[in-house]
Amino acid sequence: MPPAASSIEGLVGNTPLVELKQLSPRPGVRLFAKLEGQNPTGSIKDRIVVRILASARRSGALSPGQPIVEASTGNTGVALAMFGRRAGHPVTVCVPESVYPEIEQLLTVYGATIRRVPRQAGIKSALEVAREIVAETGAYLLNQFGTPENIAAHYEGTGPEILADLPQVDVLLAGMGTGGTITGAGRRIKEKNPGCRVIGVEPRLGVHVQGLKSLEDGFIPPVLDETVLDGKILVGNRHAFSHARRAMLAEGLFGGISSGAVLHAAMRVAGRMERGNLVLIFADAGWKYLATDLWAAEDDASIDRGEDPLDDILWW
Ligand SMILES: Cc1ncc(COP(=O)(O)O)c(C=O)c1O
Repeated sequence: MPPAASSIEGLVGNTPLVELKQLSPRPGVRLFAKLEGQNPTGSIKDRIVVRILASARRSGALSPGQPIVEASTGNTGVALAMFGRRAGHPVTVCVPESVYPEIEQLLTVYGATIRRVPRQAGIKSALEVAREIVAETGAYLLNQFGTPENIAAHYEGTGPEILADLPQVDVLLAGMGTGGTITGAGRRIKEKNPGCRVIGVEPRLGVHVQGLKSLEDGFIPPVLDETVLDGKILVGNRHAFSHARRAMLAEGLFGGISSGAVLHAAMRVAGRMERGNLVLIFADAGWKYLATDLWAAEDDASIDRGEDPLDDILWW
């Protein structure tokens, strides 16, 4: 048994990796999910927030009590609201209006101030508003889209944890928001397994998959290193939703919408493989999405017959 954690910060990371035996298309192809929803505020973003705050405090870039602002479609904002406030910083989160109500509720519970930006304007405008707040008030910008600490959290945390549990990784799949997960964990795993294919999962342009962003919207986050990627898969909403349901029904895993998107992408890749280990990042859990129609039964078989034209595989 590990010793008791001295605080909630000590419970970030070291998430479990679990095999999805029922979903394997053939015996030699094994799928494993990394359950990031088990972090303290319920998502992978706890990793980067705790790391960025510690580094900013160490370097003096963030002073005691200084307000912090960030643009987020949800999970980073929620993590910042909790860990930022615990560290004594008032937190403002700029969110596009399209985020789910549960995210705003969580932000409120954790004590953050919410600044909404119009839905069409998306994360790019949320970032502009965050920068304006910095210019006006002297707040500290967490800067998840730009800071190398985002990549480092996954290069030094997520990646090595996966390798410790599964030394041979043949395919890594993760959703892309800032690109920090895929860049950091992908880079680390490729150092150990040079043949590993790193595949980013992205929503089609105009499709809303909570937490993910399309690169086609013209904003490539500085954190994303596209040279780490071997390909990306564009996923539509119906497939993301149907596969979140499938993870629950087949394996008892309660993942969020981006986890569904990653599972759908993984099934496409696994179907073309004879053998190998695939690791899927399940970035958060399904709780926040209970009020959506995510869990309502649909004709998953018709979706799986490929009647959703919104999916593409791009390899390079
Ligand atoms: C639910 C969810 N999945 C995936 C991601 C993508 O992670 P990253 O920003 O590391 O690319 C995010 C990021 O916000 C997220 O909230």
